[in-house]
Amino acid sequence: MIAFLKDKKIVLGVCGGIAAYKSAELLRILVKQGASVKVILTENAKAFAGPLTFEALSGQPVCTSLFDERGDGSIRHIEWAEEAHAVIIAPATANMIGKLANGIADDALSTFMLAVTSPKIICPSMNTSMYENRAVQRNLDILEGDEYMVVEPDSGELACGVTGAGRLPAPEYIADRLVKRLQPKDLNRKRVVVTAGPTLEPIDPVRFISNHSSGKMGYAIARAAEYRGADVILVSGSTSLSAPAGVLMASVKTADEMANAVFENMENADIIIKVAAVADYKPSEPVDYKIKKTSDNLELQLDKNIDILKEIGRRKKDQFLVGFAAETHDLDSNSRKKMEEKNLDMIVGNLVGGSSSGFEADTNKVTFYFNDGKKESLPVLEKDEVAHILLDRIIEKVAAKG
Ligand code: CTP
Repeated sequence: MIAFLKDKKIVLGVCGGIAAYKSAELLRILVKQGASVKVILTENAKAFAGPLTFEALSGQPVCTSLFDERGDGSIRHIEWAEEAHAVIIAPATANMIGKLANGIADDALSTFMLAVTSPKIICPSMNTSMYENRAVQRNLDILEGDEYMVVEPDSGELACGVTGAGRLPAPEYIADRLVKRLQPKDLNRKRVVVTAGPTLEPIDPVRFISNHSSGKMGYAIARAAEYRGADVILVSGSTSLSAPAGVLMASVKTADEMANAVFENMENADIIIKVAAVADYKPSEPVDYKIKKTSDNLELQLDKNIDILKEIGRRKKDQFLVGFAAETHDLDSNSRKKMEEKNLDMIVGNLVGGSSSGFEADTNKVTFYFNDGKKESLPVLEKDEVAHILLDRIIEKVAAKG
């Protein structure tokens, strides 16, 4: 993981709600990711989670009152607001949402919020009927208009026994949305289609042909593009990874299913990045019963799968098309040949087989080849880092294309 939050100064506001205990976990995650976090508790929050917990986890004094307890005359809410890179309120009660939407400043947190000019994230959490109340929804709309990022609550069983929307999302998810909020939006509203993972080609109902692709590289690219403001569709073969937040998933199994999903979505796409490890062949006649081990030898007849990328290259109009080449040798010549044959704007070559590069690893060593003949070799990097550098290059090339 890239340490996006390293040295970032974050202020965490906590309101009085049953989910306040999750704020302590959120604080722990932010600190672990390198952020320096200051906490403001409302009067009611103190009833759910004490200042000592937050002080111990943040290693910083906690603000619980408008009036400076240090007595040194500094106006804390202005000081903290000026230095913060972002402010996050989790959980946010209906009362706090109402106050912020209307510019009311009658306690430490609401007064502080009026002074904040950095990005603001708010995580409503309350009983479902309260959350769905028109006044609350209206206030949330106002906050969105005021450029707050509103993290929608999860649905599920709430502490009050009701099942519905209102639960504070997992702290990891809230931290992820904070990371997104802090990213430059240089892919704003661009439509990006990414394919990832392996395809599975059935032999019978219990067996298949596939490959070792973990999907990590493609998921890293989808996540990075979403952080940077793109509308992302991730066409994914079977992986054990969880869907990146904010990304539209199209789950597929076979190469034919992947081809259909990509063709359906390519028309409107601005950028297509084809990372998936597509099985080149599929059993000619998969059967719908389990094959028994009756004979000593078994021959499988295979048919060639459609080359999805080549077909996209044939059909493409203005889309910027990126392929991946997994090679065990002759990386330069094999990658360039694929770029040419499949009509790509760019191809990412990587040598598979080593421990720091390839399918299962969290790192990758890749070389970018561009269709103007240039190339760029990167050192061994985290797949997340490779993803962001790849997007940097795509943005440069798209801009140069006009
Ligand atoms: N690809 C595809 N459809 C296929 C095979 C590959 O869309 N049936 C795409 C991959 O997603 C990747 C690129 O083509 O972006 C190169 O894939 P790779 O497996 O490296 O090469 P192949 O074209 O399959 O050629 P070979 O297996 O002979 O190296």
